[in-house]
Amino acid sequence: MLLEIRNLTKSFHGQQVLKGIDLSVSAGDAAVILGPSGAGKTTLLRCMNFLETADGGEITFDGKTRPIHEMSKREIREYRMHTAFVFQSFNLFLNKNALANVTEGLTVVRKTDAKTAKRLGMEALDRVGLADHADKYPHQLSGGQQQRVAIARALATNPEIIFFDEPTSALDPELTGEVLSVMRSLANDGMTMLIVTHEIEFARTVSNRIVFMEDGEIVETGETKRVFTHPQKERTAAFLKINTEPKEEET
Ligand SMILES: Nc1ncnc2c1ncn2[C@@H]1O[C@H](COP(=O)(O)OP(=O)(O)O)[C@@H](O)[C@H]1O
Ligand SMILES: [Mg+2]
Repeated sequence: MLLEIRNLTKSFHGQQVLKGIDLSVSAGDAAVILGPSGAGKTTLLRCMNFLETADGGEITFDGKTRPIHEMSKREIREYRMHTAFVFQSFNLFLNKNALANVTEGLTVVRKTDAKTAKRLGMEALDRVGLADHADKYPHQLSGGQQQRVAIARALATNPEIIFFDEPTSALDPELTGEVLSVMRSLANDGMTMLIVTHEIEFARTVSNRIVFMEDGEIVETGETKRVFTHPQKERTAAFLKINTEPKEEET
C-alpha cells in the first residue's frame, strides 16, 4: 500500500462533506473517483494533499501511520515532497514561461540547482510532448497545452502519486483528448494516480480502480471492469447508466 486514509472527516460551516472516508491507493494504481457534483470529491483530494486540513482521520504513507491532526508542518511538507496535484484550472504562473513553471517546485521548494532543474524540466516537458514550447508563456499556449505544462510540473518533482482534480473540465472538448492521452501514457508507465474526472470512457479504459462517491461517502469501490459490468450498488449503477448513455448531439 502506497497511501491509505482512514475515517477522514471534513465539515464546512457545520455541514459534514466527508463522512469518514477510508481509501487506499497502491503503487501503480490509476484510480478514478466518480460521483455527482457536490459529492465531496474535490475536498477529499485536497485533504489528501493537505491543501485543506481534514477535521479527523489517519493517513498512512511510507509505512507510517499518523493521525492527521497530530502532523506537524514539517511532516506535512515532507509528505508533500512526494505528491503532486493537477488542478482543473491549471494554476500556472502567467508571468513565467513553460519551463520556469515546470522548474519552480524544483528550484524554490527543493533547492535543486538551476542546471539540474532545467534538465529535469525539459525531460518533463518532453514527456507531455511540449519540449519545443519551453519558452512559451501560458497566454501563448492553448488550454490543453497549459494543462500539459501543469502535468509536466507535477512530473518534474518525481512524485510517488499525482492527484488530478477534473483536469479536463475547463477545456474545450477538442482539447481534452491531448490531456487524456498524456494521462493514459502515464498510467501505462505505472505512475500512481488518483483522478477525479467525468470522462467515463477514460475511466473505463484507463483506470484499474473506480471509487464511486456520493454525499460525502464512498458508496462503492472496486476493480474497474467489475464496477462497470456488475456495479454492486443501485446508486453506482444509476450513475454509470446516466453517464454512459449516448448524449444528444449539441448543435
Ligand atoms: N471551501 C469551502 N467552503 C464551504 N463549503 C465548501 C467548500 N468546498 C466545498 N464545499 C462544499 O462541500 C461539498 C462538497 O464539495 P466538493 O468537494 O467540491 O464536491 P465535488 O468535487 O464532488 O463536486 C459541497 O456541498 C460544497 O458546496
Ligand atoms: Mg470537484
